Amino acid sequence: MSNYFHYQQDQLFVENVALADIARRFGTPTYVYSRAALSDGYRQFAEAFKERESLICFAVKSNPNLAILNLFAKLGAGFDIVAGGELQRVLAAGGAANKVVFSGVGKSEAEMRLALSAGILCFNVESEAELLRLNEVAGSMGKVAPISFRVNPNVDAKTHPYISTGLKQSKFGVAYTDALALYRKASAMAHLRVTGMDCHIGSQLTEVSPFIAATEKVLALVDTLAAEGIKLEHLDLGGGLGIRYNDETPPSIAEYAQALLGAVQGRSEKLIVEPGRVLVGNAGVLLTKVEYLKPGEEKHFAIVDAAMNDLMRPALYDAYHGVQPLLRRAATAKEYEVVGPVCESGDFLAHARKLAIEQGDFLALMSAGAYGMSMSSNYNTRPRAAEIMVDGDAIHLIRERETVQQLFAGEKTFL
Ligand code: LLP
Repeated sequence: MSNYFHYQQDQLFVENVALADIARRFGTPTYVYSRAALSDGYRQFAEAFKERESLICFAVKSNPNLAILNLFAKLGAGFDIVAGGELQRVLAAGGAANKVVFSGVGKSEAEMRLALSAGILCFNVESEAELLRLNEVAGSMGKVAPISFRVNPNVDAKTHPYISTGLKQSKFGVAYTDALALYRKASAMAHLRVTGMDCHIGSQLTEVSPFIAATEKVLALVDTLAAEGIKLEHLDLGGGLGIRYNDETPPSIAEYAQALLGAVQGRSEKLIVEPGRVLVGNAGVLLTKVEYLKPGEEKHFAIVDAAMNDLMRPALYDAYHGVQPLLRRAATAKEYEVVGPVCESGDFLAHARKLAIEQGDFLALMSAGAYGMSMSSNYNTRPRAAEIMVDGDAIHLIRERETVQQLFAGEKTFL
């Protein structure tokens, strides 16, 4: 557990607030974030990269709440977006358009228009077809689109296959072997300005070596282009640094930064990175209540009021999230499957956890700040959770719990 989430006597606290107080006051399931954890994480990142001109573009998809985007914007962050909606969030949260990079394999014409009107820093182009469309759209608006290609370096990120993006068979980026020809083509197009090169090889990486291997491959292309007179202004090395959920030992932010800075030493390009998980993952937890304890023939179940729709990672990736009771009891712990109320066998949050709990107790699902709320859904017509940000002893509601009425407000019967 981090310093931001800690037990005082037998109560789990975030900063100076007992999480059980939040659970009682706002109900469950509820996401809770520590403002100090978020800002300290960002500052560590900025500090680690300060020796050269760099821009830290927070990956909005990992946690797009406006309060979180606003906090990072105030700390100087740029943003990595993958959809027009994310750009609208960044702007609504006070983020600067000229610090936004736009990744994603399927940018629509409308999204391109939105980003061109806002004046983003760079489109990370992921195919030749997208390049042609962007040139056309920019031309029709009398604009010039700043671009980089997301190059797929064919490097194994050694992470979960669903979140590995830098291998040949992946849908992401342009093939390494096509990149030079595409750059030549793009640099001759009237409504595009080639400004950088980008790569992102996956998420939850727990070693530095794949980042360095990818960087070296990308730099070889940058140098070949420079020799032909195509000079790039920035290098975007993506996100992907992993965090500790259970027993992983990822490199620290400082170690990761040192390795990247070493790989680009002596070069003049500005550096961009796109961290998501490492800035928010361990800054948030999901609070839930034990509805029932159900003894089974082989396994005991703790049926809680959070489910796969609130936190999808266990169901989707078999991901591990720590489970901590908000009140530690002296009783002997029993082993439980922690499951939600959704009608799917895949609706589990944690397997085989030793817990001393009673019906009505509150639990925290740990390390839930990244890809938790952002991947939640309304499956089973379950309103999405509330979100809270704690700052010292202040409790801020940063997203109200959804109501069922909101869920079907846009639907019509036609009889
Ligand atoms: N940049 C690009 C282009 C990305 O696709 C991603 C994440 C990031 C940056 C941020 O990566 P991070 O620093 O967060 O690893 N839902 C999955 C993770 C999906 C990651 C997708 N891309 C999960 O819950 O593990």
